[in-house]
Amino acid sequence: MSASGFEPVTVPRLAALKREGRKIAAMTAYDASFARAMDEAGMDIVLVGDSLGHVVQGRRSTVPVTLEDMAYHTRCVARAISRPLLMADLPFLSFQGSADRALADAGVLMRAGAHMVKGEGAGPFAANAAYLAARGVPVCGHIGLTPQFVHSLGGYRVQGRGAHGARLLAEAKELADAGISLLVLEAVPAALAAEISAAVTVPTIGIGAGPSCDGQVLVMHDALGMGPRRPRFVRDFLAGQGGIVAALSAYVEAVRQGTFPAAQE
Ligand code: KIV
Repeated sequence: MSASGFEPVTVPRLAALKREGRKIAAMTAYDASFARAMDEAGMDIVLVGDSLGHVVQGRRSTVPVTLEDMAYHTRCVARAISRPLLMADLPFLSFQGSADRALADAGVLMRAGAHMVKGEGAGPFAANAAYLAARGVPVCGHIGLTPQFVHSLGGYRVQGRGAHGARLLAEAKELADAGISLLVLEAVPAALAAEISAAVTVPTIGIGAGPSCDGQVLVMHDALGMGPRRPRFVRDFLAGQGGIVAALSAYVEAVRQGTFPAAQE
């Protein structure tokens, strides 16, 4: 059952979950079968992530993933879910492009069935979040490790250590002021993620960001032990379970109870 009972999870409901101190469970899916299993397991948010570049297409980064790829997988997932909120990633150079480019691309994903789009980065791109939000497109920000910037960052590393933490906090506030409805914090120190989560009223969803975020998100293949390697912050939820829906339900329950992530994750 979703956090909102049998009612569909909406943007206002996500805000209410944060106010009520109830954790939000999110995971990626790219096709109808796994999306259906997530709906059955009570997932609150299903993310059609551009991580599909890695886990579906076998690429080395998310940079080559196209808008057409995103729209195709969003349509596949949209057909299979009824309760979770469906979020889709804007691909490389979409959220980071002109406001009209971001809006046109968001329109494609919303027409494919998304309820919210996610854009990586902040600073100059916060204006695009405001532009989309004002036009009825709910936006999820994504800061910390932003995989679309891998070639500038020089690899997939923890972000926000030391003085850089203050910059991430400022970015979170700026995106919140711009009108985002959700914020992904990826690979940032747990203490910083806690500080950001307390500083903004927007719900935060962490991945490798400790237990104090308002919710958690994992790439499905990692959570089912199917990745080529298991990052330290990932738990294999399929281990010891009878099947996929049971594994996904165990994840949802662990997020809701606050037992995932544990200290070593
Ligand atoms: O693309 C993706 O799957 C994501 C998650 C890692 C948050 O952005």
